[in-house]
Amino acid sequence: MSSLPEELIPESPEKSPCYSCHKVLTSRIKVHAPSANWACNYCHLDVGLSYQRYETPFPISEKCFSCHEYRKRIWMNKKYVHGPTSTGQCNICHNPHSSNNIFFLKKPIWNLCISCHAEKASGTHVLAGFVFGKSHPTHGRPDPSRPGRELVCSSCHNPHASNYRFMFNNDCQ
Ligand code: HEC
Ligand code: HEC
Ligand code: HEC
Ligand code: HEC
Ligand code: HEC
Ligand code: HEC
Repeated sequence: MSSLPEELIPESPEKSPCYSCHKVLTSRIKVHAPSANWACNYCHLDVGLSYQRYETPFPISEKCFSCHEYRKRIWMNKKYVHGPTSTGQCNICHNPHSSNNIFFLKKPIWNLCISCHAEKASGTHVLAGFVFGKSHPTHGRPDPSRPGRELVCSSCHNPHASNYRFMFNNDCQ
């Protein structure tokens, strides 16, 4: 991963021109490296005294990929790329500053997924051909394949990209 340009990192957070008013943005449990270093202008462009001052590029993905370039290489070469990831809107799901959730997610994973896929909110998922028409749980149990993690949508589906249909993490066939 490439690192932050030195000149964007203030000596201490208090020396950042943004700190005095926006310190709440880094007050959550997990703080994302560029924000933890108060390199705010890496993403917020200082384009002068206009309404758009400190606006971020739209979509934000090229900024994200400038550091996470390995992911770009992997994801963008997959056969299927998930809608909001392919349009570059990483910030629909991730908070670029900080979060109380893992991976700086804006919501816990299950809640995040059903915010768009509302029809999956019943808590079970009718998997075609699943034993005798029963449904499968999508949360509230441990994930046997990922020790320490709860079973969630991303246990089976990749939120970014996949070579398998339905964006499975593994080919379930
Ligand atoms: C003197 C206080 C102050 C300072 C210093 C300050 N801001 Fe703000 N900023 C505000 C206020 C007030 C708002 C509007 C209220 C809100 O959305 O929280 C705001 C809003 C914003 C927004 C949202 C704009 C929008 O259209 O929603 C961004 C982005 C932003 N500031 C970035 C920055 C960055 C980057 C810095 C440092 C370079 C900075 N601000 C420094 C007070 C400040
Ligand atoms: C990695 C890129 C990135 C960095 C670094 C970053 N921001 Fe942001 N910021 C964004 C994006 C993208 C948004 C758009 C809002 C969203 O979707 O959450 C945003 C939104 C904001 C907003 C308005 C909405 C909100 O979330 O409150 C403020 C204020 C802000 N940023 C200030 C800052 C400050 C201050 C820093 C430095 C500590 C900073 N940002 C660092 C990308 C970044
Ligand atoms: C200036 C470089 C930089 C930029 C720009 C940047 N990141 Fe990061 N990111 C990092 C570093 C360094 C880490 C590892 C340290 C940490 O967790 O903060 C990281 C960690 C992460 C993690 C956690 C990874 C893990 O395995 O736990 C996520 C998720 C993430 N970034 C998403 C984003 C998104 C989304 C954007 C764009 C809005 C973005 N990053 C932009 C440098 C960057
Ligand atoms: C911002 C809205 C949004 C969020 C949040 C979202 N999705 Fe999606 N998802 C879409 C859209 C739009 C499509 C259809 C376009 C496509 O296939 O990429 C889609 C497609 C899918 C598909 C493929 C369906 C098919 O028929 O192949 C799966 C699986 C999926 N999403 C799983 C998830 C999971 C898991 C999460 C949570 C990590 C999630 N989605 C969060 C918008 C969203
Ligand atoms: C639909 C929601 C969604 C979108 C859009 C999204 N992510 Fe994620 N991201 C997630 C979830 C959920 C996880 C955690 C997956 C898991 O359970 O391990 C994650 C994990 C990550 C990680 C940690 C390691 C990894 O590879 O899983 C990084 C880095 C990351 N995302 C960066 C990005 C970047 C950059 C973008 C934009 C190009 C992006 N994400 C778009 C939901 C999303
Ligand atoms: C145990 C693995 C598993 C979990 C957990 C899971 N899914 Fe699925 N999902 C599947 C399988 C298998 C399919 C293929 C279609 C089928 O057999 O019903 C599928 C299909 C889908 C589809 C595309 C077809 C359709 O029915 O619309 C979407 C969208 C989707 N899942 C979203 C989600 C969301 C959102 C969650 C979390 C609430 C989730 N899935 C949790 C295994 C899973």
